[in-house]
Amino acid sequence: MKILVTGGLGFIGSHTVVELQNEGFEVVIIDNLSNSSEDVLDGIEAITGKKPIFEKMDLRDKPLVQDFFKRHNDIEGVIHFAASKAVGESVEKPLLYYENNLGVLVYLLQELTKMDKANFIFSSSCTVYGQADELPITEDAPVKPAESPYGNTKQVGEEIIQDTCKVSPKLAAIALRYFNPIGAHPSVEIGELPIGVPQNLVPFITQTGVGLREQLSVFGDDYPTEDGTCIRDYIHVVDVAKAHVVALQRLLEGKNKSNYEVFNLGTGKGSSVLEVIHSFERVSGDKLNYQIVGRRAGDVVQAYADTKKANLVLGWKAASTLDESIKSAWDWERKIRN
Ligand code: WQD
Repeated sequence: MKILVTGGLGFIGSHTVVELQNEGFEVVIIDNLSNSSEDVLDGIEAITGKKPIFEKMDLRDKPLVQDFFKRHNDIEGVIHFAASKAVGESVEKPLLYYENNLGVLVYLLQELTKMDKANFIFSSSCTVYGQADELPITEDAPVKPAESPYGNTKQVGEEIIQDTCKVSPKLAAIALRYFNPIGAHPSVEIGELPIGVPQNLVPFITQTGVGLREQLSVFGDDYPTEDGTCIRDYIHVVDVAKAHVVALQRLLEGKNKSNYEVFNLGTGKGSSVLEVIHSFERVSGDKLNYQIVGRRAGDVVQAYADTKKANLVLGWKAASTLDESIKSAWDWERKIRN
């Protein structure tokens, strides 16, 4: 079965391609290499023994998208990762984010709704919940006004898919709301490759650990949590990748209850920034150089998933502990810096 993975050379995309190939799917990757590298194909091949088909393409070019689906009229499912994801950059360049994350989504759906049967998996985010009133966060929690154009593209993206599904019974879609994916494949053949100074906690920690950054700034220790630092649900990227395969199989086997469904992808366990630092210190055996600084604008205090729906309905559960996820991130960081 041939599956299109857009953004398949990126962090979550590449790990998902590995899991798809391990399950016997034939994968075609589209990626514009704007935040990834062709070398990732070698990593995927090293793990799975097979190089996926790769087409370098910018999906904002609508005629190219149309041409792709004419050439590959046997695509049975699409997993759509290709998008911009830096919250700060989205504030500076809103139109880039709306074009990349929503324009491209519309082009893909236009092609999928021409097909006799189409299955679509969308990368959404826990950012749609904002600061939820109740924890853990269920899929029924209200969507809060977006804090950034990036967050808005995920909310509006979900709405675009939902509206399209209402009038397109042959289209089936699942939106997966990721909490905080971290880590790397245990083989350390693929992992996260942030360009420039990392904005996210775990790559900043591992880069500080190898000496690439001098010190981690912890953004605030005066939040209403046990140790005063913010709480997130950090999930191993391989667990996230496996959930995509399970969600796709649900659609391919027609087991979905409606043609638009939403699932949280988290572990269900919240960890504070200091707990993540302590996990790093445990698995690396080193002390981390960090200091407490002021709060970062836009941070919610706590976000962690209620995983019941994904556990019961998808039959999927995150398997890795925080220490295992952090260890894989640390192994990967040391490998790429050597
Ligand atoms: C985690 C915690 C920071 C860096 C991101 C995306 C969001 C969504 C989820 C995709 C926070 C603290 C961080 C640092 C720190 N992803 N921190 N020092 O904020 O949960 O959100 O992932 O859709 O859109 O933005 O993740 O890794 O940036 O921060 O103290 O140098 O670490 O304040 O509490 P976040 P993060």
